[in-house]
Amino acid sequence: MSRNLHTPGGCNPSGNPSFEEILLSRRSFLGAGLGAAAIAALPGCSAPGSRPSIGFTPIAPSSEDLLRVPPEYEARVLFRWGDPVGAAAGMPEFRMDASNSAADQALQAGMHHDGMHYFPIDGSTHGLLAMNHEYLDEGLLFTDGMRTWNAEKVLKAQHAVGVSVIEIHLLGGEWKIVRPSRNARRITATTPCGVSGPAAGHALMRTAANPDGRLVLGTYNGCAHGWTPWGTYLTCEENWHFQFVNPGRISDDQRRYRMSPKGRGYRWDEYDERFNAARHPNEFHRFGWVVEIDPFDPASLPVKRTALGRFMHEGAACAIGADRRLAFYMGDDAANEYIYKFVTAHPYDSSNRENNRDLLDEGVLYAARFNADGSGDWLPLTGRDLGEVRVRTRQAADAAGATKMDRPEWIVPHPATREVFAALTNNSARKAADAANPRAPNPFGHLLRWREEGDTRFRWEVFVLAGPEGKGNIAGDKFACPDGLWIDSLGTLWVQTDVSPTALGRGEFAPLGNNQMLAVDPEAGVFRRFLTGPRGCEITGFHTTPDNRSAFVNIQHPGEAPGDRANPDNPRAHSNWPDYAPHGRPRSATVVIRRKDGGTIGT
Ligand code: FEO
Ligand code: CA
Ligand code: CA
Repeated sequence: MSRNLHTPGGCNPSGNPSFEEILLSRRSFLGAGLGAAAIAALPGCSAPGSRPSIGFTPIAPSSEDLLRVPPEYEARVLFRWGDPVGAAAGMPEFRMDASNSAADQALQAGMHHDGMHYFPIDGSTHGLLAMNHEYLDEGLLFTDGMRTWNAEKVLKAQHAVGVSVIEIHLLGGEWKIVRPSRNARRITATTPCGVSGPAAGHALMRTAANPDGRLVLGTYNGCAHGWTPWGTYLTCEENWHFQFVNPGRISDDQRRYRMSPKGRGYRWDEYDERFNAARHPNEFHRFGWVVEIDPFDPASLPVKRTALGRFMHEGAACAIGADRRLAFYMGDDAANEYIYKFVTAHPYDSSNRENNRDLLDEGVLYAARFNADGSGDWLPLTGRDLGEVRVRTRQAADAAGATKMDRPEWIVPHPATREVFAALTNNSARKAADAANPRAPNPFGHLLRWREEGDTRFRWEVFVLAGPEGKGNIAGDKFACPDGLWIDSLGTLWVQTDVSPTALGRGEFAPLGNNQMLAVDPEAGVFRRFLTGPRGCEITGFHTTPDNRSAFVNIQHPGEAPGDRANPDNPRAHSNWPDYAPHGRPRSATVVIRRKDGGTIGT
């Protein structure tokens, strides 16, 4: 997410040490200079050796309103905001003047594509693509922006977020959307979702409309994603608090989750009263969860899995243990918030999908503490009233003594080595771009790496400090503000960036150009620029087919106005990607990337 929606400093009142403090102690522990980056080499970390070398021609930074890939590759737009998903109920075409109705939007791709996963139906040529639509720009969504406001507009906004599931197949070297498809589906901020796990039915989850606290209308602001080995999709609710307002007294609990009197100006509360927390305080507790969706069953109820905790979820990246219990790594993407891990109580059953149906309801949730000696501890978050501990996950992690991080974004475990990589985007990119505040802490972000030692211990190091030439310690092509991460099945690490439009092109960010994606050899730590996006976008969401010959990438919020919503009178002010229509508007989109010779992505 960009649009400068992250509050520098955050809302964590605990006295827990920050990662910056730990890092300074770590450097003095090692006697290293402040510019040192690789703090210590993790013992015994090695890749499987089968990874093909990165062979493409790296591309230069770009400030153009274009999507660029290496000359050996081609990129095609597959699925733009407003494209029909292909549901049998209707396939309304997108109207370039944004005049589609709320009912149309419920059958079309939402805005602001984010985390994404390919689920094979027939290997690498036919499958389902599930993706998040993270947030909104009403300046683009409505012909007149927010100048007028009514129930139909609120409903269209609620339908423009959530999740899409589309069916796609590869024909003649080109991916197409199957329309109609029985699997095509939109899940929005009004779709009924079940609740399971420790907080299901808890007093804090009950509302007048749902007295048993087990059914919620909608999921929205899903950011990065997660997946399970039994083929379900996890959408991870991140900045849900923006839609809530509280014109009354804001409690400490609400403040800990960034409740504010007016939210971020979404104005949903004016026609959907549950977003007024003064009147419906518990509705606020019913978001901020990881939601499991079965893409293969279009009639299935999405389920909010409360065992995985409530915070501003970035993603939920799965690793399968030697004993077949699963670990899910999760960031709470806000300044000075924590990294979490959920470990299932029971092993995953690869022989019977049905046996995994409730696997995410029972297990241990941990928050991470990083120590200056390079060790780390996973701190279990427990209590007598586990439902309350899950609703108030942040407070539980405060009390446990977790380490305040600089905005944890995506986290990915290496499929072979089990090393875990995490992107920490920064605590204040805007300040860094501002000449008046040249010394903002960690302005360019970094990547961490750790290795697990059982369930409750780990060893960590800084994998790379990001930044332009002369800053950080990147070997190879420079970048800032890492956000999206993926490690493909061959072991190539992919890094996507989200420099906020308020910082893009300004000050020390200027030489880095538009947001980008890089391929990394995790052994050598060499970064190669693979893709540059159009103006104002962030690059997010990445998945490859099992044969690694097709890659899906999401281009989010092209043309975002720095720090604000788009001007409806001039929607093309910053970008007109991907259509470049004379009377059009920029549209987030999924892009498919293939090597021109049909070869392996990244080579
Ligand atoms: Fe939605 Fe953390 O970016
Ligand atoms: Ca981000
Ligand atoms: Ca993100």
